[in-house]
Amino acid sequence: MRPLEIKKGIYWVGAINWNVRTFHGHTYTTNRGTTYNAYLIIDDKIALVDAVYGPFAYELIEKIKQIVPAEKIDYIIANHVEPDHSGALPELMKVCPRAKVFGTEKCKEGLYRYYYLDLDFQTVKTGDTLKLGKRTLTFIEAPMIHWPDSMFTYCAEEELLLPNDAFGQHYATSERFDDEADQCVLMDEAKKYYANILWPFSSVILKKIEDILKMGISIKMIAPSHGIIWRRDSMNIINAYLSWAKNETKSKAVVIYETMYGSTEKMARKIAEGITDAGLNVKLFDISQSDRTEVVSDMLEAKGFIIGSSTHDNDMLPTIAGFLEFVKGLRPKNRIAAAFGSYGWAGGAVVSIEKVLKEMGLELAMPSVSVKYAPDEDELKRCYSFGNDFAKKISGKG
Ligand code: FEO
Repeated sequence: MRPLEIKKGIYWVGAINWNVRTFHGHTYTTNRGTTYNAYLIIDDKIALVDAVYGPFAYELIEKIKQIVPAEKIDYIIANHVEPDHSGALPELMKVCPRAKVFGTEKCKEGLYRYYYLDLDFQTVKTGDTLKLGKRTLTFIEAPMIHWPDSMFTYCAEEELLLPNDAFGQHYATSERFDDEADQCVLMDEAKKYYANILWPFSSVILKKIEDILKMGISIKMIAPSHGIIWRRDSMNIINAYLSWAKNETKSKAVVIYETMYGSTEKMARKIAEGITDAGLNVKLFDISQSDRTEVVSDMLEAKGFIIGSSTHDNDMLPTIAGFLEFVKGLRPKNRIAAAFGSYGWAGGAVVSIEKVLKEMGLELAMPSVSVKYAPDEDELKRCYSFGNDFAKKISGKG
């Protein structure tokens, strides 16, 4: 793919990874691949904002060479040290050895520890600027969005925000702009990205966005370092981020369970039926059969979490246990929750689930429901009522 001019004199020179299917050490399934976006700004001085993942260094350099000889790059802006954006640096520095690198103090430390390069590095802080000619870049530190080194770069003359991971999506496409992409898929991927990567940092994200909005700067285009560029209405994705960062929810529930011989599954299906009949949206996931990344995405806007497991060794089953540990790390807030499950002789799963839900700081909406061996007709009716009552609590009627 050729470089793409996204604004006069500013080019996308990134790479598309069509076939990557896992990310962040298999914590994220990238069913639609991803892109590593880098941007080349041609002015009196030439600046490259971010690089790409190491195996794609040759693609980045080839694209740059289609615009200018790579040795003419004056500045490299390293918004983020994570290797999916910095991995190409060792190869890049071979073709533009005189380029000066700009980033935060943490970025300087991180780049050194990753690559042990002798870089001409200038540390920047929020409000520092770099004049290129007609354009000036302004740096905005964004620690923990989502690493300590993270930074945004803003170009006022172009009303362009280059926020690295923020507002990104793992979405490989031949289109580069939001108005060219499938809208449902785009927002679905943006939501999945937020849920799985940025959710734990919601309070930081909320403050950073509010601070940027208070600065009164005009942002007509947001060019993140993964996926599609937002140019149709940048407030669309900013407002979505504000809502997710505030942990705003919809009147919907997710029922997530793991079952050994099908008893907990029977309970789950009756609970979901009770929720549906109360008029609420519900999604049901057997976590042992589900894509965890997708489940977390569905949890982002759900008001209610209902978690179930069969008992095994006086505890919940291992897949749901691992999943709950992952969800705990995402730090969901403002949800209501409940637990259910089946057991053979001594229970334990439901108690363990309740414990984890409490550790997450979630409100247990109602007493848990447990069933010995397999649910009989009366117990299935109890499960139905459990779901029905939970739905009423979500909608504020119970
Ligand atoms: Fe896309 Fe935090 O790297």
